[in-house]
Amino acid sequence: MDPLAFIVALARDAGALLCERLDDPREVTQKSPRDLVTDADRASEALIVGRIRQAFPTASILGEESGIHRGTGDERFIVDPLDGTTNYAHRYPLFCVSIAYERAGRVEAGAVYAPVLDEMYAARRGFGATCNGASIRVSTVRAVSDAMVCTGFNPAGYARNGAYFAKLSDHAQAVRRDGSAALDLAFVAAGRFDAFWEWDLKAWDVAAGALLIEEAGGVAGAIGGGVLDLANGSILGSNGLIQAEMVGLLGSV
Ligand code: IPD
Ligand code: CA
Ligand code: CA
Repeated sequence: MDPLAFIVALARDAGALLCERLDDPREVTQKSPRDLVTDADRASEALIVGRIRQAFPTASILGEESGIHRGTGDERFIVDPLDGTTNYAHRYPLFCVSIAYERAGRVEAGAVYAPVLDEMYAARRGFGATCNGASIRVSTVRAVSDAMVCTGFNPAGYARNGAYFAKLSDHAQAVRRDGSAALDLAFVAAGRFDAFWEWDLKAWDVAAGALLIEEAGGVAGAIGGGVLDLANGSILGSNGLIQAEMVGLLGSV
């Protein structure tokens, strides 16, 4: 089975499940201060993990809610069953399902599905990125002063990010904080945002979105410059044209 077709179908079904439950009464618990999990996160992850195990029985899975499922092969699925849980809990429509497919340690395909928007972002390494089947490209903005950039942070981490937010507010045309890192990265790939940065993310937040950006012609790297390390969890993604200027601005706070 083609892994990209598989994760696209799976992300769509998990997104439909999230939408069906959006207006239901919600069980919300806190994993740590202001890090929420709902019954919908768990149901989405159960659906995704069950389907992967059926279709790819030897693959490993890294899922945000259920952790590591070790397989015997060299394939791995990296799953955020609901990225933007706080948005979801407030019925703010920017949330998504993010699934990446890795082989021999390299992400080969990614799908990010925002069900309320009905936007399916998909990328296969070497074959470009699409939204609902149409090819997407990063923006052509050449200077941060003309850019709309986006960031994210756990509310408990505002003290750290506040200074960076202020710095970019001084330099960029606009700064946003939308609350779903995977979707923010997809929006960079689609040319809506010109850059996105966030510290302390996890592989499931960024694996699919980083591939989307690269395949849309942009750059997904480390905040301090250099290559992205999925396990490290900090990312600066951009259209490539403003990557160096963003590294310089964030490095001078
Ligand atoms: C969170 C979102 C948010 C980001 C947080 C993430 P979750 O993921 O991506 O935008 O700022 O750092 O943890 O918990 O909603 O899957
Ligand atoms: Ca997440
Ligand atoms: Ca999540």
